[in-house]
Amino acid sequence: MEAPVGFLVVSLLLSCFATTCYGVTFSSLQRTLEVTASPKEGQVLKAGDANITVTWGLNRTIQAGTDSAYKTVKVKLCYAPISQKDRSWRKTVDEMKKDKTCLVKIVAKPYTASNNSFTWTVERDIPTGTYFVRAYAFNAHDEEVAFGQTTNDKKETNLFKIQAITGRHASLDIASVCFSAFSIVALAGFFYMEKSKGKASQQK
Ligand SMILES: *[C@@H]1O[C@H](CO)[C@@H](O)[C@H](O)[C@H]1NC(C)=O
Ligand SMILES: *[C@@H]1O[C@H](CO)[C@@H](O)[C@H](O)[C@H]1NC(C)=O
Ligand SMILES: *[C@@H]1O[C@H](CO)[C@@H](O)[C@H](O)[C@H]1NC(C)=O
Repeated sequence: MEAPVGFLVVSLLLSCFATTCYGVTFSSLQRTLEVTASPKEGQVLKAGDANITVTWGLNRTIQAGTDSAYKTVKVKLCYAPISQKDRSWRKTVDEMKKDKTCLVKIVAKPYTASNNSFTWTVERDIPTGTYFVRAYAFNAHDEEVAFGQTTNDKKETNLFKIQAITGRHASLDIASVCFSAFSIVALAGFFYMEKSKGKASQQK
């Protein structure tokens, strides 16, 4: 009696891995895009102020037609390994859906093989860290099929830094203190009203 159940579980698991449960992996992507970004190696950019100009296109040494399935490109800002250390929420995972290396979208555009460029002002809420830029090419099913990045495969070269807006933490702290004070007052008010309601219904 047990064998069929075991078989069912195994085949369910297998079909799960083969289709829905396991998506595109980074290691399966071809590095066919050439990506450059304006920051120089080691440059420090100020969040909310500095601009990054990214250019991308098909690497000219790649065989023509390789990009026939490419439909869109997403350019992203990505954490270098040094800024991922001890931060599980920025972890690199081979399965693309779970990967947290590149959390910030710079731009998404229809794919064209050359002359692509975009200038992005580093958003105000980007945390201090060491970064690089990566572009993904997607097919018509919105699955990653290729990539390119401004650093080498080990993500060691040509990294730049972003410095968060100073004073942000101070204002956030004040905001959260105000918010807690507001919550306590609101909560107290709520209990007071509930209590008086209770009294009112007892009097009836
Ligand atoms: C373009 O592709 C060639 C061959 O794969 C590679 O050696 C070269 O580094 C690539 N260029 C860029 C800028 O990625
Ligand atoms: C970045 O670009 C914006 C908009 O074009 C401009 O106002 C700003 O001065 C630029 N920042 C720097 C540091 O050049
Ligand atoms: C790319 O830009 C260059 C210079 O502006 C131009 O000569 C070339 O024709 C452009 N290529 C494409 C495919 O648009």
